[in-house]
Amino acid sequence: MTANNQKPFRLIDPNTDKSTDLPVMEGSIGPKVLDIRKLYGETGYFTYDPGFTSTGSCESKITYIDGDEGVLLHRGYPIEDLAEHCDFLEVAYLLMNGELPNKDEKAKFEHDITYHTMVHEQMAHFFRGFRRDAHPMAILCGVVGAMSAFYHDSTDIEDPRQRMIASYRLIAKMPTIAAMAYKYSVGQPFMYPQNKLTYAQNFLQMTFGVPAEPYVDNPVLSKAMDKIFILHADHEQNASTSTVRLAGSSGANPFACIAAGIASLWGPSHGGANEAVLKMLGEIGDKKNIPEFVKRAKDKNDPFRLMGFGHRVYKNYDPRAKVMQETCREVLSELGIKDDPLLDIAMELEKIALEDEYFIEKKLYPNVDFYSGIILKAMGFPTSMFTVLFAVARTTGWVAQWKEMIEDPVQKIGRPRQLYTGSGPRDYVPLNKR
Ligand code: SDX
Repeated sequence: MTANNQKPFRLIDPNTDKSTDLPVMEGSIGPKVLDIRKLYGETGYFTYDPGFTSTGSCESKITYIDGDEGVLLHRGYPIEDLAEHCDFLEVAYLLMNGELPNKDEKAKFEHDITYHTMVHEQMAHFFRGFRRDAHPMAILCGVVGAMSAFYHDSTDIEDPRQRMIASYRLIAKMPTIAAMAYKYSVGQPFMYPQNKLTYAQNFLQMTFGVPAEPYVDNPVLSKAMDKIFILHADHEQNASTSTVRLAGSSGANPFACIAAGIASLWGPSHGGANEAVLKMLGEIGDKKNIPEFVKRAKDKNDPFRLMGFGHRVYKNYDPRAKVMQETCREVLSELGIKDDPLLDIAMELEKIALEDEYFIEKKLYPNVDFYSGIILKAMGFPTSMFTVLFAVARTTGWVAQWKEMIEDPVQKIGRPRQLYTGSGPRDYVPLNKR
């Protein structure tokens, strides 16, 4: 019996009849895991799991997802409750520290983050090196990676105080850098953060405010922005979070790790999907074209997929998509947008897809990206900024997961193995004989 009273999982090699007992580890909720750390040493076998569909890469206490039930918990709290009752910095504190902050802790955390929102003035020069039409995600990758050149005093990952300062700097400065990327793309002057504003209000002020007049907050829009940040804050061991953990496992500095996470998030199968959803809805153009696109999405020979649908883990409705849909209605109503053609197409597409046998059989439901783009477009963001906003929010999850990985006593450098199917040893052939 293993330490947690679980009977070991017995493997028997049919070629040698040798048996190997794999310890079974049980979490607080969710599937048990087979501890295969000794598998290769005892059997000579590797496991094979491209895409890590059945592989747990770490132990974590931060986020739990039940894909079949459509459940998402952050430190045990359902995402629906956090989106309803908290603000983004409260959720950030929860992800980082494991508990919701009390009044004093909340006030101190807000103060500490607020007073790290300015970036080193020389960082503004980085932007001028990019073309004006550079994709803001390319700028974000570059500028965040460069933070390790400006904030070298918080790159010693062995020092808990430096880890905390780097974490605060990343959470605090990401909105400022994101807003600067937008301002640069539209040729407007950068806006400085305003310490009297909340995290979401400040981001909107730095993005849409101009020096020529005072910025007036729209509470419905800043509340929606704050909720969108909450919905994107963390999501277990997704591709970009796993990238941050793997980069961090080598001891790379936190700024470089987050830049790696940004690069991974950019992919259209991951965080880039919100931008791809808007492009797809634009291509569909009219409800009458939906059946043709659904047909293409089902065609094995057509690489086209319905962007904003499907998920590696959720085989039920993504709980974030439900909150996002409600927020979408609130924002469109606040902005007086009665019949948004893209929303009409999205609602009809969702209806058709959810009734289609192919999508039902493959358990393909709308995910977090399906509605977010419609809200962000209505708020005035260009589609190229959608994944940037995802990165701003997910920085908190990346930082929390990176911190947990660094503090995990069993963590070691990530170094997967492979199934080699290339050429065996062979003799060199001189150039004149090839
Ligand atoms: C995010 O991991 C996370 O938690 C990510 C995320 C987070 O918060 O970090 O939740 C954020 O990335 C959300 C997902 C955004 N991506 C998209 O909306 C892009 C469209 N979706 C697909 O690319 C796809 O669904 C994935 C990438 C999201 C998941 O792909 P999987 O788990 O590798 O599943 P799969 O590709 O093996 O698909 C299973 C089957 C396949 O058919 P078969 O080969 O079994 O016949 O479903 C089909 C796929 O062809 N399928 C789709 C589809 N998604 C999957 N068919 C049509 N349209 C789709 N969108």
